[in-house]
Amino acid sequence: MQIEEFKLERFFSKYEFKAPHLLCSSDPESFLIEELLSFEPNLSEDLKKVWLGYTETQGNLELRECVTKLYETINPENILVHSGGEEGIFIFMNVALKSGDHAIAMFPAYQSLYEVAQSTGCEITKWELNEKNNWELDIEFLKANIKKTTKAIILNCPHNPTGYVMSKEKLMQVVDIARKHNIVIFSDEVYRFLEYRSEDRLPAVCDVYENGVSVGGMSKAFALPGLRICWTATKNKEILNQMAKFKDYTTICNSAPSEFLAIVGVKHKERIFKRNLEIISNNLKILNIFFDKYKDIFNWQPPKAGTIAFPGIKVNIDIEKFCIDLVDKKGVFLLPSTKYDFGNRNFRIGFGRKNMPVCLIRFEEYLNQSNLLLKDPVLAKTES
Ligand SMILES: Cc1ncc(COP(=O)(O)O)c(C=O)c1O
Repeated sequence: MQIEEFKLERFFSKYEFKAPHLLCSSDPESFLIEELLSFEPNLSEDLKKVWLGYTETQGNLELRECVTKLYETINPENILVHSGGEEGIFIFMNVALKSGDHAIAMFPAYQSLYEVAQSTGCEITKWELNEKNNWELDIEFLKANIKKTTKAIILNCPHNPTGYVMSKEKLMQVVDIARKHNIVIFSDEVYRFLEYRSEDRLPAVCDVYENGVSVGGMSKAFALPGLRICWTATKNKEILNQMAKFKDYTTICNSAPSEFLAIVGVKHKERIFKRNLEIISNNLKILNIFFDKYKDIFNWQPPKAGTIAFPGIKVNIDIEKFCIDLVDKKGVFLLPSTKYDFGNRNFRIGFGRKNMPVCLIRFEEYLNQSNLLLKDPVLAKTES
């Protein structure tokens, strides 16, 4: 198997545990095990009694039962638990796509959502979000690009990196198109439940489409990425069976303590989502003020959901050099759009962590000290 380097993850591996001010994380503020165990009496004692043998390959039954409550029509047999969303993506692409097939994927995107498909020899058409129109997707593009060989449409809403969420009407149009052409929809929903307005929450694709495969998990909405527990949910038994067979060659089964803690997380979902959304909402108020203050420099399109957004820079600079200079000089870590193969004008900013305001102060200090931006009247006036 030949696969391109995962640019975002390589860049993260360089700075994530070295830079003091992470300002582009997509996972919300996490929890200590101690905090999670305080959600119910006796959990500490119960954790000590977790058996450290192999676990059920499909995933712990109690966990799968709890997960069904996140969906409308899904039962435990429709769920396969993975070691992280990344495993679900990797396995799906490998069982559902092959050389000669074609898939259409939202773009920009978390790279594995199209790269793993490409590594199988599958041809990818990138369905680009339109920055000039609030990152909106054009349904006509999707219709025009369906081919006889199209096997999958790959969605990710709420979207990494823009925070875009399509309308329910648009999602149902995508489902209609997929159904008409017998195409599977693979829907990465790891940021679902982090919508700022509940009415923006989309139905899970596995609930509204018989050939829909939804990915959910603990890493984003539940703020527990260190558990490495996610799942795929689908009513398509054939796909789920093939994925289960493939998993025998990746992780076989999941970590028992992680499954125990994931059950606690899923049972206390309302409390976790509320706390995450409070942090996000406070941070977004500050970010709206910040981007208004610097509107001559940045193009800010407020997201609809999740922990990240993808502002543009209006001044004429190389965004990757800018991000590297920022992290080197101030320890503030932003992610340039080059790591998404999406030009050199945008960067990902994250606002799910409690220390975001401090990181932003450091970022502002950099801006104010930087000849590159504010003090150079020529550059500051150069619109892209
Ligand atoms: C859209 C999306 N899907 C999947 C993943 C990977 O999730 P996990 O950490 O559970 O492997 C990420 C991580 O950033 C993501 O943003």
